[in-house]
Amino acid sequence: MIAPGQGQVNVCSMKQRVSFGFLLEYASFIHLRQPMWPGYMLILGIETSCDETGVALFDTEKGLLSHALFSQTDMHADYGGVVPELASRDHVRKLLPLCDQVLAESGLSRSAIDGIAYTAGPGLIGALMVGGSVAHALGFALGIPVLGVHHMEGHLLAPMLEENPPAFPFVALLVSGGHTQLVRVDGIGQYQMLGESVDDAAGEAFDKTAKMLGLDYPGGPRVAALAEKGTPGRYRFPRPMTDRPGLDFSFSGLKTFTLNTVNAARQSEEGLSDQVRADIALAFETAAVDTLVIKCRRALEQTGCDRLVIAGGVSANKRLRAGLEKMATKLRAHVFYARPEFCTDNGAMIAYAGAQRMLAGQRDGERIVAVPRWPMNALPSLAEARQAGLVD
Ligand code: KG4
Ligand code: ZN
Repeated sequence: MIAPGQGQVNVCSMKQRVSFGFLLEYASFIHLRQPMWPGYMLILGIETSCDETGVALFDTEKGLLSHALFSQTDMHADYGGVVPELASRDHVRKLLPLCDQVLAESGLSRSAIDGIAYTAGPGLIGALMVGGSVAHALGFALGIPVLGVHHMEGHLLAPMLEENPPAFPFVALLVSGGHTQLVRVDGIGQYQMLGESVDDAAGEAFDKTAKMLGLDYPGGPRVAALAEKGTPGRYRFPRPMTDRPGLDFSFSGLKTFTLNTVNAARQSEEGLSDQVRADIALAFETAAVDTLVIKCRRALEQTGCDRLVIAGGVSANKRLRAGLEKMATKLRAHVFYARPEFCTDNGAMIAYAGAQRMLAGQRDGERIVAVPRWPMNALPSLAEARQAGLVD
């Protein structure tokens, strides 16, 4: 994806800054569409990879200025999952009004933006195209650079928006609706995959369990709420792939076990009562969380890292956070995560990730980038991005 030597590199050395200081001031005076100081940018972030339209303004000096989100979950709930065509159409309706909203909340106009970051993948192709088209159209009209950002890198970096951000290196557990991955992170774009799910993602397992228990989409938070009323120990579910070495996951066996338990309960005298449903929800959640905790402990021990970052929708799960904190305390390690609204899809994480890469000079060419499947370890490091300057 990198086209070496084609892009404009936007980062100057200190010496260049001093010698070009006057020129830069002059450039801002005549309203050249470049930031006054090359180490600073105001980035508009756009997220439309699935069923949430997220927009945010991130200032590389002042931090997050504003963010807005429209969730389509009510629209998709009738269908029991995301309907891609409906998702794309709704992004078209919501995206520009949300862009205007974040600008109004920050008291800024479009002309203040220095660059636009949008989710380029992985995700639903139609939904990605909406964000990419709007980003490129706005970028062209305003004469500013645009960059397609990796959705999972956005999730991974979301904890950087919090008050006490993690330092590199760290181990990251990425747990969303489509991904379950353990990654060693040495810097932005320096990712070593340690393990991943060989079948269903953790969030997917939560969503499917919710369906079996008659709960609406998205299932994760609903399973967690129902589990609060469950009786501990009534059912014991397996902890898949924890009895052998390695850092890969498998959640499809756990899903089948849950289905068999639900079917057996239906045939029983008590039937699938509210209490039985809550007990099953708790047994499932405990098994899924235990499995994730065991693998995270192994990853910390294997890498020698004492920092663990959790990111993606499932990282909002309270039982998972508590389980990981308990394990990490024993290892004298620390766990980092984003506030709940930045665990699930949002524009702030895209604005932040885009800002880091655009500061390093990375930009799209003229083409909109939309990649439904995109391995995160294919991303360039910031040093490589600085050299190449352009993603196409
Ligand atoms: O990161 P995300 O918003 O979208 C993707 O990139 O996939 O993750 C959505 C997933 C869904 O599967 C949802 O059920 C799950 O995250 N989720 C949760 C919780 N909140 C969201 N799973 C368990 N507990 C939660 N509190
Ligand atoms: Zn996501």
